[in-house]
Amino acid sequence: MTTPSIAVIGAGNMGSSLIGGLVNNGHPSSKIWASDTSTEKLSQLQQRFQIQTTTDNIQAIQNTNIVVFAIKPQLFANVAIELKNIVQSRKPLVLSIAAGIRESSIQQWLGGHIAIVRAMPNTPALINCGAAALFANTYVNDDQRSAAESILRTVGVVVWLPDERLIDTVTALSGSGPAYFFLMMEALQQAAEHLGLPHETARLLTLQTALGAARMAIESGKPLDELRHHVTSPGGTTEKALSVLEENNIRLIFQHALQAAKHRSEELAELMDKK
Ligand SMILES: NC(=O)c1ccc[n+]([C@@H]2O[C@H](COP(=O)([O-])OP(=O)(O)OC[C@H]3O[C@@H](n4cnc5c(N)ncnc54)[C@H](OP(=O)(O)O)[C@@H]3O)[C@@H](O)[C@H]2O)c1
Repeated sequence: MTTPSIAVIGAGNMGSSLIGGLVNNGHPSSKIWASDTSTEKLSQLQQRFQIQTTTDNIQAIQNTNIVVFAIKPQLFANVAIELKNIVQSRKPLVLSIAAGIRESSIQQWLGGHIAIVRAMPNTPALINCGAAALFANTYVNDDQRSAAESILRTVGVVVWLPDERLIDTVTALSGSGPAYFFLMMEALQQAAEHLGLPHETARLLTLQTALGAARMAIESGKPLDELRHHVTSPGGTTEKALSVLEENNIRLIFQHALQAAKHRSEELAELMDKK
């Protein structure tokens, strides 16, 4: 595929992050359209990135190869139905980042036989540090797969899923995951304050430790248990703390937490299907 023309429907948090990611990675501004109900958001994007903007979703996708749906899930059906005719005449790749909207629903609203990639990004995409999982339906060709991957890769790492049902597990892991880490950091900070550290000191040491641990794991590529053993001297302080966490079933707690989130993700997708 030559440089594809991309239309982003919904220029909110995620949509504008993707646009920023694309432009910063060298995608020509002339080949990016943004559509939104807010003229204010559009004019800010236009000024910042010199992209094409419109409040008319149909105009946005008139000459595009890829349509990114970055609107709220509850608006998806109406917007997709509005775009059905033009999508059927142009047959672009549809890339949806909407949580809980199944490929089969999108296919039905758009009239069928459309190449669709469903993505589950997460909030750190807003600072180009996201983690997204993608699923492609059988209409998606190799060029379209790599185009979808490149779009999401501008705001973080990307993995492919062989089965759409795994998106509910991804939602439970990386979709909701930032909140688990926020909670852990909050708990660590509070515990340190309780033991006498000033608030700001506890906060800085907590955040930098979390960042350092994640970077060490990513940059070394070593298994997590190996990294953990490496910093756990027999009879030392870390060993004492870890034994308290293990005795209190930290692994089982996370297993239950992810199961609950996955179950809720399935329930929400079910509700969206019925709309
Ligand atoms: N934020 C995340 O971390 C995250 C993570 C994973 C997945 N997602 C998914 O990403 C999607 C977008 O989320 P977001 O946080 O970016 O939401 P958002 O900030 O609300 O962005 C959606 C944008 O769409 C606009 N819009 C509303 N109706 C429209 C229409 N008919 N045509 C075109 N644009 C319209 C909204 O304008 P108004 O504000 O004027 O209504 C808003 O600017 C959602 O489906 C969400 O599930 C988000």
